[in-house]
Amino acid sequence: MRTILAAVDQSHHAHDVMSRAAELAVVLRNDLVVLSVISSDPMKQFNIVEEQNRFASLHRELIFKHFPENSLAVEPHSGTGGVYKYGTAGVRIQSRILSGNVVDKICECADEVNADIVLVGSRGLGNIGSLVLGSVSERVVHKCTRSVLVVKGQRLEGPDWTGLSNPQKTGTVKI
Ligand SMILES: Nc1ncnc2c1ncn2[C@@H]1O[C@H](COP(=O)(O)OP(=O)(O)OP(=O)(O)O)[C@@H](O)[C@H]1O
Ligand SMILES: [Mg+2]
Repeated sequence: MRTILAAVDQSHHAHDVMSRAAELAVVLRNDLVVLSVISSDPMKQFNIVEEQNRFASLHRELIFKHFPENSLAVEPHSGTGGVYKYGTAGVRIQSRILSGNVVDKICECADEVNADIVLVGSRGLGNIGSLVLGSVSERVVHKCTRSVLVVKGQRLEGPDWTGLSNPQKTGTVKI
């Protein structure tokens, strides 16, 4: 079984990445690892437990949104994240939350799970104006030893966009 790695942050681009990853996983009958990295950048101070919980619920939301609920089985697992089985083909979906340098962790995880392809969004939570690629996606393309697919999606961001973690905004996402 081949494996697809989908890296998601807490922006609406996560839905674009997950939508494409789910489509590929089902059509190709590949396993899927959904990965988020809590940045160890000292400029970004996070409460690690809060951030883990936030990513865990984001992953659940993404998995239940992009794989029909009645065909998903939750598997027993230990630690953070979760494991699901989808449909009769038995596509295995694993949620992983790591902490450290975001680019390094995405590349290390790709090697560890022997990912056939890595999916990243073209942009993320930063979204400063005119840049075509965010710094994480650009560095993953350079550094990763695996094939990388940069997913371009709709531009939903605006002055009041606060990310997927705000439940009032989540309902406005169009796929
Ligand atoms: N913390 C993270 N964990 C997992 N994947 C991430 C993380 N941050 C970014 N990514 C991946 O990289 C993609 C592009 O995000 P990136 O951070 O490069 O852009 P940006 O936030 O718009 O710009 P920048 O962070 O450089 O200001 C995201 O859609 C996601 O796929
Ligand atoms: Mg970013």
